[in-house]
Amino acid sequence: MVETVGKLQAAHRAGRQGTNGRARGTGANGTAVIRAAESAEAQVLRREIDAIGPWFHNLRLPVDGAAGEHAETAPDHPLGDFPSVFWSAFGQAVPDDLTGKSVLDIGCNGGFYSFEMQRRGAARVLGIDHDPVYLRQAEFARERLGLSARDVEFRRLGVYDVDQLAEQFDLVFFMGVLYHLRHPLYALEKVAGLVRCPGGRLVFQTMERGVQETVQVAEDYPFAERGIFYDERFPRMYFVEHRYAGDWTNWWIPNPAATQAMLRSCGLDIVERPCGEVYVCAPKDAVRLWGRTGAAVPADGLARSSD
Ligand SMILES: C[S@@+](CC[C@H](N)C(=O)[O-])C[C@H]1O[C@@H](n2cnc3c(N)ncnc32)[C@H](O)[C@@H]1O
Repeated sequence: MVETVGKLQAAHRAGRQGTNGRARGTGANGTAVIRAAESAEAQVLRREIDAIGPWFHNLRLPVDGAAGEHAETAPDHPLGDFPSVFWSAFGQAVPDDLTGKSVLDIGCNGGFYSFEMQRRGAARVLGIDHDPVYLRQAEFARERLGLSARDVEFRRLGVYDVDQLAEQFDLVFFMGVLYHLRHPLYALEKVAGLVRCPGGRLVFQTMERGVQETVQVAEDYPFAERGIFYDERFPRMYFVEHRYAGDWTNWWIPNPAATQAMLRSCGLDIVERPCGEVYVCAPKDAVRLWGRTGAAVPADGLARSSD
């Protein structure tokens, strides 16, 4: 599971794009799939689904006038029922009852996590993505689920611009996005600043590669120290100059040590690791932060500038 999720996320992206951009098909294999057992209404819905595909999130959308019948948006997803299967591995790390809470879902895609948070009673759910095709899917799904923009709002917004929201959220999802960014730490600092302090939580996931083991790093190393850089447990980011899994939007892939170090460096404490690649984080004590950008202040009290 640890490696599979990130890799398949990457593979899906690869399937959506050509060498010089993106070519969109009408379905996972380029054709609308009509299943013999489906009612006429379900077939209509399936055609609508395929017309705005391919989908990365497999959502179950109710068929009009057919109680209990639904169509799936990505029934042939290579990971199976994704992200439901993944969610079942870490969903318990999020409170069942989110009554009165606010949620931000960054890189919301088809809206799976946004809809789940709405189901758990969140008072405000905002899903953002920079990709208008995924946002169209999320809005289509919202309508079919009988929800409105007051229940779940979707907005086109890139992660580098999240500080424009000028708002903090009780729960922030930042899943499957970091490795798609050329400037991951810049983004993570901004994301960390949106988690309500105190009390908020960040649910974070990234593709990871390299050894699972981590090592306690020293506060400092002499300039002559070279050996630590040969230790694969030392925080490492693998830079993808060309493509990984056929996907040119994969740029930086951390090992677990680097994921954890970056989260800490952005002013976050890792409070739970419910499954591989997933981290639940809480903002460190506000007084230890430099403003709310998330850049941690070292023990001597002087801000370590990230500018
Ligand atoms: C691998 S999918 C993950 C979707 C969902 N968060 C999940 O975990 O299932 C990555 C998503 O992040 C979005 N994304 C990538 N770069 C982004 C950026 N700079 N700003 C906002 N969204 C971005 C993509 O459009 C896509 O919907």
